Amino acid sequence: MTVHPNSLHARDIAHVLHPYTNAKTHESDGPMVISHGEGIYVFDDEGNRYIEALSGLFCASLGFSEERLVEAATQQMRKLPFYHTFGHKSNEPVVELAEKLLALSPVPMSKVFFANSGSEANDTAMKLVWYYHNAIGKPNKKKIISRVKAYHGVTIASASLTGLPNNHRDFDLPIDRVIHTECPGLYRFGKDGETEEEFATRCAQALEDLIQREGADTIAAFFAEPVMVSGGCIVPPRTYFDKIQEVLRKHDILLIADEVICGFGRTGNMFGCETFGLQPDMITMAKQLSAAYQPISALMINDKVYRAIVDESGKIGTFGHGFTYGGHPVPAAVALETLKIYEERDIVGHVRRIAPRFQAGLRKLGEHPLVGEARGVGLVGTLELVKDKRTKETFDPGLGVAVYAGKRAQAHGMITRSIGDNFNLCPPLIINEAQIDEMMEKAQLALDDTLRWVEAGHPTA
Ligand SMILES: Cc1ncc(COP(=O)(O)O)c(C=O)c1O
Repeated sequence: MTVHPNSLHARDIAHVLHPYTNAKTHESDGPMVISHGEGIYVFDDEGNRYIEALSGLFCASLGFSEERLVEAATQQMRKLPFYHTFGHKSNEPVVELAEKLLALSPVPMSKVFFANSGSEANDTAMKLVWYYHNAIGKPNKKKIISRVKAYHGVTIASASLTGLPNNHRDFDLPIDRVIHTECPGLYRFGKDGETEEEFATRCAQALEDLIQREGADTIAAFFAEPVMVSGGCIVPPRTYFDKIQEVLRKHDILLIADEVICGFGRTGNMFGCETFGLQPDMITMAKQLSAAYQPISALMINDKVYRAIVDESGKIGTFGHGFTYGGHPVPAAVALETLKIYEERDIVGHVRRIAPRFQAGLRKLGEHPLVGEARGVGLVGTLELVKDKRTKETFDPGLGVAVYAGKRAQAHGMITRSIGDNFNLCPPLIINEAQIDEMMEKAQLALDDTLRWVEAGHPTA
């Protein structure tokens, strides 16, 4: 590609380090510059239109042109563009948002702590797990269990919870105190002929065995996304969370639900906890909380955890944790307006009504020769690409088959994001039926192109 030295592309290559990007190929390929958005579509700087089939990064639930959110931010910026919540200070949007979130919570919760990203919310939850156990006089109960293929973020602590090799490799992670148990993905980890229930029982037994090996009095908490989206849209097998929670309760282990993607309607309920029956002690959320128009995350804690914080911070003299922009009034005002829109437009009801069409389209694509399994729930799903449908044999990861499929989708006017072998679809919640069909047609074209490329021996040009 020839790029003018003063173009945005050249300046990007010269100056920007991109997250989750191969820095080497970026030097030759450069960026795709997105200039504006309209509903579920975004446009690049050459005027090409794309369906944003991943809601950006699983977050732009209301699409890319919701004026009410622009207005909410503008008004709040005029009134109070910044204030913090340190040292007993507060502001109106933060109080209202906390009240609203507690009212929406799928289980009784006591307080809300605000941060800026999903990683920070999970990092905070980990710190509170430790603070809590020190406060209640169980200083040895500190290890945290997460799952293989989990995604909880990229800070040192949350990346340690994440169970994906590329988030650990050469970063010297995970830290000790974090251990990983079985991934509940039946397609990859189930045994031949195993039912969902049998597999769930085996996962719970594996958790029990891990706890026994480590010593129950050393295990503090278990982190789980209701659906492990980044790990490959792994929908838990039936009875999984009932069985897991039985083990956790038996050993007095806290449950933290990571609702960063599932929260706010994605799975067909306000929270993934409702869809899959989780009863957590803490809930982390971000992304769709503000429809992605402003960075904001939140952590809800139950009264048991809160009481310990009250006692401990009373003893120490402060609760020594907080981010400058946690409790920022502008993102809080935007989040409040987002929640109002969800309610007024019955976004959760819309997801429920439209999800069957999305899931049917996904299952239809599951018949494609490249697709080993199509799976999902609500308005999130994945197509797991395989070399051999019958044996589930995977492609050589070096070929980047799913990434190639993503590039072909882009050529057909659809942006998605492939992670590993998974071609993911997670459209804005406002998508309509015709747009779902359009998205599936483009996915079909991308898969057909990819199959031809594979059959031709994956030429590089
Ligand atoms: C389930 C889950 N938790 C946490 C995070 C981290 O959020 P952030 O990128 O805002 O730090 C993500 C991001 O994709 C996520 O999917």
